Amino acid sequence: MREVKRINPDCRRGGVRIGASQANSRVTHKNHRYAFDVIVARDIKNLALVGFMGVGKSSVGRQLAQDLEFEFVDTDEMIELETGMKIPEIFAGAGEDAFRKLEAKLVADSRAWSNKVIATGGGLAAHGNNLEVLKEGSFVACLWASPETIHDRTKHQTHRPLLRADDPLGKIRALLESRESFYKQADVLVSTEQRSVREIAGNIAHQFRETQRV
Ligand code: S3P
Repeated sequence: MREVKRINPDCRRGGVRIGASQANSRVTHKNHRYAFDVIVARDIKNLALVGFMGVGKSSVGRQLAQDLEFEFVDTDEMIELETGMKIPEIFAGAGEDAFRKLEAKLVADSRAWSNKVIATGGGLAAHGNNLEVLKEGSFVACLWASPETIHDRTKHQTHRPLLRADDPLGKIRALLESRESFYKQADVLVSTEQRSVREIAGNIAHQFRETQRV
C-alpha cells in the first residue's frame, strides 16, 4: 500500500512531530495555516513493533511473523550478530551513543526490507528520527504496559543495562515518561496488559492486513 503523509516543514523545524492521525491534513500552528507541505510517501511492506523494554515485542513479534508468514527479525539480535558483542558489552565498552548509531543504521536499512516483522529495542523509536524513517516502509505498532507491569516482568532479568539501577521502578517511570511522546506516534498503540500473546498478535495482524488492502 502507498500512503501519502503531509508533513509541515515549519512544524518539523520547531520540533513538533506529526502523528499518523494527522496524515493528509494541513497542520495549523499558533493559529497560522501554512501554505506549503512536504509529501512523504509510505510504502508499507513490513510490520514493526516498538515500545518499552519488557512489553513483549519479541513474543508478540514471533507470533505475528507466524500469522503473517513473514520473517521475524530483532534489532538487538542483529546488532549483536554484527558486532559479535552482547548489548551490555556494547553499552559498557563503546557506550550508548555508539549503540544508538548502530540502531539508526538498521532503521535506514529497513527502507529496503519487505515481508519482515521487526521487533525493535525499547529505545529505538525514541531516538533521532528513527520512528519517522521506520514508518516509511513499515506499519508501526507500539506495545504498551504500565511501569509496574514492566517492572514485574523485568525484575529478575539482568541483560538490560538501562535497568541495572538502584531504583529500577523509578528508572522505568522516568524513561517511559521521557519516551511516551515518541511511542504515541506509532500507527497503533496496543495494551499488553492482561491479554495473551495470540490475542495481541491477532489484533495487530488484522490492522496490518487492512493497510495491505488496495
Ligand atoms: C533498550 C532496550 C533493549 C536494548 C537496550 C536498550 C532501551 O531492548 O535495545 O538494552 O533503551 O530501552 P528491549 O526493549 O528488547 O529490552
